[in-house]
Amino acid sequence: MTPILIEDESSLAPWAGCAFVPTMGALHEGHASLIRAAARSGRPAVVSIFVNPTQFGPNEDFSRYPRSLEADLVTCAAAGAAAVFVPSVDAMYPRGIAVAREEAERLALPAVATQPRLEDACRPGHFAGVVQVVTRLFELVRPSVAHFGEKDWQQLRVITEMVAMHPTQFDGLRIVPEPTVRLDNGLAMSSRNRYLAPDQIEAARGLSRALQVACAAQHPGTAEALMHGTLEEHGLEVQYAVVRSAHALLPVQGFEAPTRGLIAAKLGTIRLIDTMALPIWR
Ligand code: PAJ
Repeated sequence: MTPILIEDESSLAPWAGCAFVPTMGALHEGHASLIRAAARSGRPAVVSIFVNPTQFGPNEDFSRYPRSLEADLVTCAAAGAAAVFVPSVDAMYPRGIAVAREEAERLALPAVATQPRLEDACRPGHFAGVVQVVTRLFELVRPSVAHFGEKDWQQLRVITEMVAMHPTQFDGLRIVPEPTVRLDNGLAMSSRNRYLAPDQIEAARGLSRALQVACAAQHPGTAEALMHGTLEEHGLEVQYAVVRSAHALLPVQGFEAPTRGLIAAKLGTIRLIDTMALPIWR
């Protein structure tokens, strides 16, 4: 069934209590799996599509971020979305983007958004923008459940902690993690994969290969060394390739508690991230 297109936030009231999937569009099978999970929850699945300017740094790809609304609506329909909210910048940030950026800088963020020195260090201001837009979307849509991908593990942790920090404001909202969807060759699906030239796909596979190789390591230090080696073999420029505690994302000495491998690497100007639970034998 064709989902209802909502462009005006005043039409959102009937969707309160929905299962929500916030996105920036350029939808792929990873997004579709979140929408299918939302639709299976028994509540109407509502998707938002908004390329949020406040979470992009000045030298990032905001203006060239892929936009494909027509195709996205087809994906939403096929995955079982009941409604798709496509807000304008004015609806999201009534006082304009410049003021919104200033407001984002003043937000109180959970520790997992500032301490790990991972995405927070590579993309200063990014999580302030994410927290700002997700808070605004939650206020407008008022979902009961919201589905987020494990691929953006630090983002998932930031949103989970943000909701836990403000139980009254978010009133029983549940954040549900969804597993990463990959191509057959292991590459995690991402809207930014559209930037990859065919000959770069093999190099991009280096991220998932590095995580797979690290899965067999007995110690975090060995896992990190193996990840670096594999990434460099694939010609990737490593930003970080680390083993961290799964919740706080802080350094660990061993694999006793749940841990994750987390990678950010660049292929020319294209920045890719990936993560897996480590080690496999745990
Ligand atoms: P976007 O990158 O469009 O991702 C939307 C959701 O899809 C996120 O929860 C993300 O983790 C999930 N996702 C992306 N690739 C995935 C994959 N391969 N498998 C499973 N899930 C995947 O993340 C954002 O947008 C924005 O920061 C947003 C939360 C919408 C705020 O603007």
